[in-house]
Amino acid sequence: MGWNSWNFFAGKVTDKDIRDTADLLVSTGMRDAGYVYVNIDDTWEGKRDAQGRIQSNEKFPDMKALADYVHSKGLKLGIYSSPGPQTCARFEGSLGHEQQDAQTYADWGIDYLKYDLCSYGTVMRQQAPNDLAAQNKLMRQAYELMHQAILKTGRPMVYSFCQYGMDAVWEWGPGVGANLWRTTGDISPNFDRMRIIGQGQAGLAKFAGPGHWNDPDMLEVGNGKLTLDENKVHMSLWAILAAPLIAGNNLTQMKPEIAAVLMNKEVVAIDQDPLGKQGDRVYAQGPIEIWAKPLSGGRKAVAIFNFDSYPTDTAGISTHLREMGFGTSASAHDVWAAKDLGKIKDDYSVALPSHGVQLLILGK
Ligand code: GLA
Repeated sequence: MGWNSWNFFAGKVTDKDIRDTADLLVSTGMRDAGYVYVNIDDTWEGKRDAQGRIQSNEKFPDMKALADYVHSKGLKLGIYSSPGPQTCARFEGSLGHEQQDAQTYADWGIDYLKYDLCSYGTVMRQQAPNDLAAQNKLMRQAYELMHQAILKTGRPMVYSFCQYGMDAVWEWGPGVGANLWRTTGDISPNFDRMRIIGQGQAGLAKFAGPGHWNDPDMLEVGNGKLTLDENKVHMSLWAILAAPLIAGNNLTQMKPEIAAVLMNKEVVAIDQDPLGKQGDRVYAQGPIEIWAKPLSGGRKAVAIFNFDSYPTDTAGISTHLREMGFGTSASAHDVWAAKDLGKIKDDYSVALPSHGVQLLILGK
């Protein structure tokens, strides 16, 4: 769990934004809720010096001092690069400098690397024209090269793959060191984009587990025009997916209701449950979908979504308790309402707003 600069600040991020964010992660309680990684995304990179050593640019005058500051707050610092010659925003990538860059990050005190394919896609196509299998092999080798480079520094770093889910990365990513891997192209602060990404995670649960996670991309909670209900849908779905919770909002302007969504203790606990099992879709009928995630203690987190732009109720739609491992009834707790509902049966129904969710914890 943490925060990343891209979704809100994109190319404008500065050293000051990172320091302000670090301060706010502490003062808002987000750090103590679990958001400990502060990740600088693309556009920090400067030129290489005469020895080929990567420099940060004028927006980040002293990366080591920044890392010291972030660490002094009880937080960890993440950085970003690409296996290609250039990053996605056309800054300097790591191609040909992998060991040197990993060592520079280690010297600075970096704890997390997001490694974004970007221009390496062009390298792959140039080196193996019209041969997808050979291109994919080059991609795996490039990710393994940086994996080995990080290991060689001796400094532990979370290794985050960003190649948009190409070549079923969930099958091979963990074998070349991925702690998390993007399963999708970029998210945006738009309900339908978020929904499509979330729904696209169906079937991926078996590939995730402690230390190696599917990453449906960083949170847009609090960004753009997402309504409070939409933010709750986003947060609920990511929690069911055991997704890395990497906030992406501007903490200097965070509204109390957004802080409450990001820091809802029960939702965070669903995401971070010690069983480490990702959830999956149980049932869909048009815009109504039921997703469930196994939790410790024989419980299940169950989200009933209304993806429609109209309010609805779920009368006539079975809650599918048996498919979720319960008998004819289960005890239910409504997470967002913070309310026990007593025993429910398959005929349980709920009124949901447009783009709304009810998130339940079910027990025997
Ligand atoms: C890609 C990634 C994004 C972000 C940008 C930065 O699009 O998928 O998450 O890192 O690059 O340029």
